[in-house]
Amino acid sequence: MSGDRARRALVTGANRGIGAALHAALRGRGVEVTGTARQAREEGWLALDVTDPTSVTACREAWGEPPLDLLVCNAGIYPDKGQSLAEGYPPEMWEAGFATNVTGVFLTIQAFLPALRQAGGKVAIISSQMGSSEIASGGSLIYRASKAAAINLGRNLARDLKSDGVAVAIYHPGWVRTDMGGASAALTPENSAAGLLERFDALDLATTGAFETWDGRPHPF
Ligand SMILES: NC(=O)c1ccc[n+]([C@@H]2O[C@H](COP(=O)([O-])OP(=O)(O)OC[C@H]3O[C@@H](n4cnc5c(N)ncnc54)[C@H](OP(=O)(O)O)[C@@H]3O)[C@@H](O)[C@H]2O)c1
Repeated sequence: MSGDRARRALVTGANRGIGAALHAALRGRGVEVTGTARQAREEGWLALDVTDPTSVTACREAWGEPPLDLLVCNAGIYPDKGQSLAEGYPPEMWEAGFATNVTGVFLTIQAFLPALRQAGGKVAIISSQMGSSEIASGGSLIYRASKAAAINLGRNLARDLKSDGVAVAIYHPGWVRTDMGGASAALTPENSAAGLLERFDALDLATTGAFETWDGRPHPF
């Protein structure tokens, strides 16, 4: 499957924002795509709260036996916008940021490993340029640290899963007009999703472990 287009895909956090645009774009291509949402809505959707191991297990069980060509770990939170270094960043905010952006990504990938191995599938982790340790422009310390950890997780899983034929890469989706990105962001979710899908198509075992932008540029780690 590596280097090819997916036939069967799963996108986490697909009910709004970039995840919704990825879901729609994959469906538009004729991919059998399953969206997850904390409140699962209709047929073809699965309930998933990535911070809740019971929910992750239930989601995996509801998926059943089919192989999975493409898993997009998109669900994420940015809990610490505007926090003050002197008085902000409470421990529970760290906990929530890491539970969603790091542990949630890991638990989802772990749950779907048998289905990914069966397909020789691909894993796309939506991180952020804000997770780059080379750029490190300060502020939003929880979001930055959790997205840096997501990059590191993707890099190491790429190594661990290569012999299973599963490719893993990490992406910066651009600055995107969503609830998280805000109204002044540069890109529509549709622009970002179209670029990301091209990157997912190009991912294979030769490029596994890459950190790239939505428009195909290698991103500094
Ligand atoms: N927008 C940007 O400019 C930008 C830039 C760089 C990176 N990113 C990354 O791109 C991804 C998508 O961002 P976005 O802008 O589309 O954000 P968004 O509009 O805030 O949407 C976030 C999505 O993640 C889901 N989610 C949050 N916590 C979850 C949990 N515990 N379990 C399952 N789903 C959960 C949300 O579900 P609910 O509706 O239930 O809350 C929602 O579907 C995120 O990983 C984000 O960090 C975004």
